[in-house]
Amino acid sequence: MTAQLTVISHPLILHKLTLMRKADTSTAKFRTLLKEIGMLLAYEVTRDLPVKYETIQTPMAEMSAPVLAAEKKLVIISIMRAGQGILDGMLELIPSARVGHIGLYRDPNTLVVIEYYFKVPQDIEERDVLVVDPMMATGNSAVAAVQRLKETNPRSIKFVCLLAAPEGIEHFHEQHPDVPVYTAAIDERLDEHGYIIPGLGDAGDRLYGTK
Ligand code: URA
Repeated sequence: MTAQLTVISHPLILHKLTLMRKADTSTAKFRTLLKEIGMLLAYEVTRDLPVKYETIQTPMAEMSAPVLAAEKKLVIISIMRAGQGILDGMLELIPSARVGHIGLYRDPNTLVVIEYYFKVPQDIEERDVLVVDPMMATGNSAVAAVQRLKETNPRSIKFVCLLAAPEGIEHFHEQHPDVPVYTAAIDERLDEHGYIIPGLGDAGDRLYGTK
């Protein structure tokens, strides 16, 4: 199976991402930008959603018009806590989507991922999943989250991030070649602490102003 990687290099996304990267961008601005990019990413990753036709009445005539066939069948799974920023944007565009949360943190010494929270819709087997996390660094969180989600047997899974490191993408593709990855940019490398270089710092801290 060929692993799928889509770089969504839309000029609006790239511009907003550059603003997010700047060290002097405020917490409030960072949050707004991530939400806006979340909307734009949602637009791109839902291109293949099926539509169905229903008969409607315009002021001029009756017509058969397309509507989403599966709007209520999507689940957006946020990897806490930074995933929340993308989730908020996606929900603006797809308000009927269901939402799940996975709480993971990286042990700062070993970089091993530890799960502390897991809550997803009960009927996930009938749903298509978008897993969101702004940063795919080592890929350990993404791999662990998708591994855990596969146990719940959803209809399909896509992984959506903002920035990825080549190391993370490679690791993820090795472990989950069946799961398409969408990212706005691929950066140079990881540093010795597992941070993306040049990156944008700690997405959670920048989103919530905790540092
Ligand atoms: N998580 C972040 O928030 N930033 C990084 O650079 C890597 C992981």
